[in-house]
Formats: sequence, C-alpha cells, structure tokens
Amino acid sequence: MIKLTEVTKDYSRRGRALDGVSLHVRKGEFVFLTGHSGSGKSTTLRLIHMADRPTSGEVRVCGFSSELTSDREIWKLRRKVGCVFQDFRLLPGRTARENVEFALEVTGSSRTEILPRANRLLAQVGLSAKGGAFVEELSGGEQQRVAIARALVNDPPVLLADEPTGNLDERASRGILELFRELNASGMAILMATHDLEMIRAYPKIRTLELSEGRLVFDSAAAPAPAGRSGG
Ligand SMILES: Nc1ncnc2c1ncn2[C@@H]1O[C@H](COP(=O)(O)OP(=O)(O)OP(=O)(O)O)[C@@H](O)[C@H]1O
Ligand SMILES: [Mg+2]
Repeated sequence: MIKLTEVTKDYSRRGRALDGVSLHVRKGEFVFLTGHSGSGKSTTLRLIHMADRPTSGEVRVCGFSSELTSDREIWKLRRKVGCVFQDFRLLPGRTARENVEFALEVTGSSRTEILPRANRLLAQVGLSAKGGAFVEELSGGEQQRVAIARALVNDPPVLLADEPTGNLDERASRGILELFRELNASGMAILMATHDLEMIRAYPKIRTLELSEGRLVFDSAAAPAPAGRSGG
C-alpha cells in the first residue's frame, strides 16, 4: 500500500530531512509516525502524497511509484490518498457542508449527488447537526471533522494525517482518534504523524514508527515484546 525504499530527501546542502528510510504500511493498517520536531515526519507524509519527490530512493503508494508518476498523473494518486493537517485548511466564510460540497464538485460528482453525499460524509464524521454552521462557528475538533469528511470524498484506501490533533485538547483529540479507528475498522489504512506520546501510549495496539534526525529508529511491529510480558 505504502512502501518507501531507502528514501533520502535533501532540502539543501546544509541538511538532510530524510536519510535512508525504508518502511512498509500494509493495506488497512493504522500506524503512528512519531519523532521529535524536525525529525522528518511531515517530509515523509509529503513524499507519500507526492507533494515532493525524494532525492534518492523510491516511494510507492497504491501502485504509483515516485520514479514513474509524472506531475500530470499525480491527481490519480491523490484520489486514493486523503490528507488532513494540524491547521484544518478549510475554506473560510463557508459552511461545513459547503466545504465538503466543493471537494465533491472537484471529483466531478453530479449536481444531484452532491448534497446527499455531503450529508452522508458529515454524518460519517459525527457532524450531521452542524452542516449549516460556518467554519468560524465550529470548535477545533469539529473543524478537523469537516477536514476529515472532505478528505473522504473519493473514498480513499489511504488517509495521511499530519499532527491532526496538534491544535486540539485531549478530549477532542480522543474523539478524532476514535473516528480514525472507525475508518480504519472499515478498511482504510491510516498513517498519522504525531508527537503526542500520551496519545501513543493510550493506543498500545497501534503500530508506531519513530524517526530521529531523518532516520527510522523504531518500529513497534519489529520490536521484541517488553521483558516480563512475553510468553503470555
Ligand atoms: N521545504 C523545506 N525546505 C527546507 N528545509 C525543509 C523543508 N521542509 C522541511 N525541511 C527540513 O527538514 C527537516 C525535517 O522537517 P519536517 O517538517 O519533516 O519535520 P517534522 O518531524 O514534521 O517536525 P515537526 O514535529 O516540527 O512538524 C527539518 O530540518 C526541516 O527544517
Ligand atoms: Mg511536521
């Protein structure tokens, strides 16, 4: 589903954002990507979204290779990979429903389909009652739910989330995580960058990858069980 092979990314001669990263996220998997600030989490997600290309190595996502996919074809990949960000990136001065409707228009949905589909997506993220509210009237958690609904318009098999709970309090963050778990349970692979270690600890069954200075230094799926907990 997502495969990075020896991926390096240099933004300048001064520093290397990613340094020989290889990782594999399987179909339907939920993975946290953690690491300190500047460790390369956002860079990794940008490369997977092909918003940027690796300096060397290969990124493969849903059958698209960074070496073979031209800029003109990237829209095909983007239909398979939804994306949400810490700062929501919603259209201001519009309602929650309008934000989702615009995204549906871009996918080429027919006029008659757009409203029922927008309502269905808003219901899926728990916002049925807030469709008519302007973005500015929504809480951070609600705004992130609109952003998630918008990311789902193509029913993507992969969702990338870059610090999606970074601007939210603990309760709203938990709500977003529970929504992600529902989406994951219905088969969507999710790769979520977060430096919230408490969140990671609260979900010990979710696989965790850790970057440090552009290198992959930990994969909970490859790690041995902690002493005293094995053999159960
Ligand atoms: N567009 C860019 N131009 C130059 N350097 C960049 C660019 N984007 C990222 N970098 C550098 O690459 C390194 C990794 O940055 P990245 O944003 O991936 O880290 P991060 O793990 O997402 O950090 P944070 O937790 O603060 O979001 C940093 O040293 C950063 O300065
Ligand atoms: Mg980042």
